[in-house]
Amino acid sequence: MSIVETLINRRAIRNYISTPIEEEKIEKLLKAATYAPNDRLREPWHFYVIREESKQNYQAMALEFLQERFPTKPHLIQESVKVLEQTPLIIVVTADVIPGDPASSTDNEYAACCAIHSMWLMAQELGLGMVWRTRGVGLVHDERLYRFIGSPENKKVVGSLFIGYPQAEATPTKRTSYKEKTTWL
Ligand SMILES: Cc1cc2nc3c(=O)[nH]c(=O)nc-3n(C[C@H](O)[C@H](O)[C@H](O)COP(=O)(O)O)c2cc1C
Repeated sequence: MSIVETLINRRAIRNYISTPIEEEKIEKLLKAATYAPNDRLREPWHFYVIREESKQNYQAMALEFLQERFPTKPHLIQESVKVLEQTPLIIVVTADVIPGDPASSTDNEYAACCAIHSMWLMAQELGLGMVWRTRGVGLVHDERLYRFIGSPENKKVVGSLFIGYPQAEATPTKRTSYKEKTTWL
């Protein structure tokens, strides 16, 4: 598949079958990530692989978050728990924060985002489905997730990647033409 076809065909996949992901494939995802561009080769990313027992713990943490955040929406909580239960693998990605250097810290976040996109494309090649989550059960903006990954110093969580073998073909999403998003100066 050409690069443009790969880019056009990449989709956010949110529903998976329960088959676990082979360790070899997880390593391929992680390896793909490390080739992402990054300023001054700081390689400012770290990956936390969550599956099996640690995924059970993630689920418990997410349930606590959901009950606190959506006390009047049991249906939403139930749906979110179902999503977690059927997700065999979660990878949390952090970017290094450089104390006293906000500009470089921001560049580090950009680099971690590039790494995530590389993983997304690699997942596609491996026949896996992936979605980058920040909201809800992604927990990216919740302190609990920092504690969960061991409260590392000077790291900012940029994404929780939910990964699994897809349940079904994803439906295409629409894009606005670059013509409406571009100013030729
Ligand atoms: C930074 C970022 C955060 C996202 N957060 C979520 C999320 O919390 N939950 C979710 O279901 N999808 C999330 N997504 C996936 C987008 O919703 C998805 O990419 C979008 O709907 C377009 O679909 P496509 O990727 O299949 O083209 C996120 C994507 C990005 C880049």
